[in-house]
Amino acid sequence: MVFWKRLFNNTDISNTDQKSQFKGEPVNLKGHTDGQTRIFFTREREIDLYELEELCDAVGWARRPLRKVKRALTYSFMVVSAWEVKGNRKRLIGFARATSDHAFNATIWDVVIHPRFQSKGLGKGMMKYMIRQLRSEDISNITLFADPQVVDFYRRLGFVLDPEGIKGMFWYPD
Ligand SMILES: CC(C)(COP(=O)(O)OP(=O)(O)OC[C@H]1O[C@@H](n2cnc3c(N)ncnc32)[C@H](O)[C@@H]1OP(=O)(O)O)[C@@H](O)C(=O)NCCC(=O)NCCS
Repeated sequence: MVFWKRLFNNTDISNTDQKSQFKGEPVNLKGHTDGQTRIFFTREREIDLYELEELCDAVGWARRPLRKVKRALTYSFMVVSAWEVKGNRKRLIGFARATSDHAFNATIWDVVIHPRFQSKGLGKGMMKYMIRQLRSEDISNITLFADPQVVDFYRRLGFVLDPEGIKGMFWYPD
C-alpha cells in the first residue's frame, strides 16, 4: 500500500536535481564512489511512514503506532531526511526532526542513519544541515536528549553536556 503523505507544502531552499527532480542539498559522502547514485538532504516532508518505520527497524528501535508517528511529524517544526537517489527511485537513508517554540528554542529528536550508510560522515552532515536550517529560522537554542552511546557523536558537533550544571529532567506516568 502506497502511503505517501505531503504533510506540509514546505519547499526546500536549496536546489533541485535535474535528472530526478529531487529537491534537496547534494551530499559528498566519504567512500561513496558509485556514479549512478546520489545522496541528498532535504527539508521536504514527503515521508512514507512505512519507509520511516523500516529505517527505524534497521537500527533496532521499538516500533511506535504509525498514527502517532504521523502526528509527531505533522506537528514537528522541522523534518530533515537523507535520501539515496538513483534515476527516479529514492530511498530514505536518514531522518531527524525538531520541535520548537518557533522563536528561541528547538529540540532535535529521532536522529537516525541507516546502518549501511553509517560511519561515512552522513550523520554529522545531516545534523549540520539541520542546525543550519534551524539557524536560518533564527532559532538560537538547540537541545537534544542523547542516548549514552552517542554522547560523543553530539559532543563532536558542538553540543555541550549539562551546560552550567543544568540537568534534563523527565516525568513518567506511574
Ligand atoms: C548516531 C548516528 C546517527 C551517527 O551517524 P553516522 O553517520 O554513523 O555518524 P558519522 O559517520 O557522521 O560520524 C561523525 C563523527 O561522529 C563519530 N561517531 C559516530 N557515531 C558515534 C558514536 N556512537 N559515538 C561516538 N562517536 C561517534 C564518528 O567517529 C565521526 O567522528 P569524526 O568526525 O571525528 O570522524 C548513527 O550511528 C545511528 O543512526 N545510530 C542508531 C540510532 C541512534 O542511536 N540515534 C541517536 C539517538 S540519540
